[in-house]
Amino acid sequence: MEDTYLFTLSTLLFLLFPLAASSTEPLLSTAAHTLTDAGFLSMALTLRLASPFLTLHPADSLTVFVPPNAAFIRSGPLPLSLLQYHILPNRLPLQYLSSLQPNTPLPTLLPNSSLTITFSSFNKLSLNDVVVSTTPLFDDGSLLLLEIEDFFNSSSLQELESEPAPTNAETFAAVTEVLKSNGCSVMASFVDAQLYTEFGDGRKFTIFAPLDEAFAVDAVSLRNISDYSVIFRKHVVPKLIRWRDLIRLPNKTLLPTFSDGFEINVTVSPKRRFLNGVLVAVPDMFRGDLVVVHGIHGLLDSSRA
Ligand SMILES: *[C@@H]1O[C@H](CO)[C@@H](O)[C@H](O)[C@H]1NC(C)=O
Ligand SMILES: *[C@@H]1O[C@H](CO)[C@@H](O)[C@H](O)[C@H]1NC(C)=O
Ligand SMILES: *[C@@H]1O[C@H](CO)[C@@H](O)[C@H](O)[C@H]1NC(C)=O
Ligand SMILES: *[C@@H]1O[C@H](CO)[C@@H](O)[C@H](O)[C@H]1NC(C)=O
Ligand SMILES: *[C@@H]1O[C@H](CO)[C@@H](O)[C@H](O)[C@H]1NC(C)=O
Repeated sequence: MEDTYLFTLSTLLFLLFPLAASSTEPLLSTAAHTLTDAGFLSMALTLRLASPFLTLHPADSLTVFVPPNAAFIRSGPLPLSLLQYHILPNRLPLQYLSSLQPNTPLPTLLPNSSLTITFSSFNKLSLNDVVVSTTPLFDDGSLLLLEIEDFFNSSSLQELESEPAPTNAETFAAVTEVLKSNGCSVMASFVDAQLYTEFGDGRKFTIFAPLDEAFAVDAVSLRNISDYSVIFRKHVVPKLIRWRDLIRLPNKTLLPTFSDGFEINVTVSPKRRFLNGVLVAVPDMFRGDLVVVHGIHGLLDSSRA
């Protein structure tokens, strides 16, 4: 779970910061090393990848607020702007922070954006209503690392992220309906359960949907839901292939699937196409901008047939 999560996180981060190189800014690399050692891997990775994009005007000191890994699991990666909002361009000692009055603004690396003191006393401090630990993770006089309970302004993040969802959800609902009405209700249930959560991020793909009978024939060897889930991944290709694209593929073209190492071998005969020997029965059963579905006669994994 943790591994998968970190892998997903680094993939997302590389998408956010495509040109990231290793940090040349000594304070940020110290921060990244220290956080790695202390188990704050998500923030460490984020700082490392984002550092080329963080402009620090001759920084001789910094304060970095560090969210726990759990915050990244909850809300996804920190976009660059929000990351900047977690860094003060100078080190403000805790005693000083704790002595400030509520509503005092603290300018951050994000242009024209300040954090606001919402509570302060000698042993308790919160900024933007997020509790800040009063035990520093690290403080060497120029770099201060303070743990916080959650991202600052995490709600703004969720609003941003949920924007594209309705379109995807509508597409998936339509795909599910089409599959059900064409006798592919097993595949339909996986589009609902698996595709939407795993692949519902705007990627394009093609589903080859066997009829329910194909699963019935094989029911003995399919004991549990994870067996079905493995099969499902073998029937989804990570690109959009309409019938008019499919008929142009050269004989014996191999298509990759979401199941590592499992490929679909397209063979050509007049007016028909076979996938791993299985006839494409209902071309373009569904055709959308994100998803195409073709109905097929059997399961593509012949070792099970
Ligand atoms: C920040 O505020 C200044 C002065 O109000 C303004 O000139 C500048 O454009 C603002 N910068 C950004 C990035 O909003
Ligand atoms: C964070 O939230 C506060 C309070 O809602 C708001 O005033 C501030 O503009 C937000 N800052 C950013 C960078 O989103
Ligand atoms: C489901 O089947 C797979 C392969 O046959 C097996 O490895 C796994 O332990 C099974 N899971 C359950 C919950 O029975
Ligand atoms: C693809 O299928 C054809 C026809 O069955 C076969 O000759 C060919 O070897 C297959 N290619 C691969 C890579 O399996
Ligand atoms: C495609 O390859 C298969 C397997 O080698 C062969 O039987 C078939 O005739 C080929 N189709 C065409 C159109 O060449």
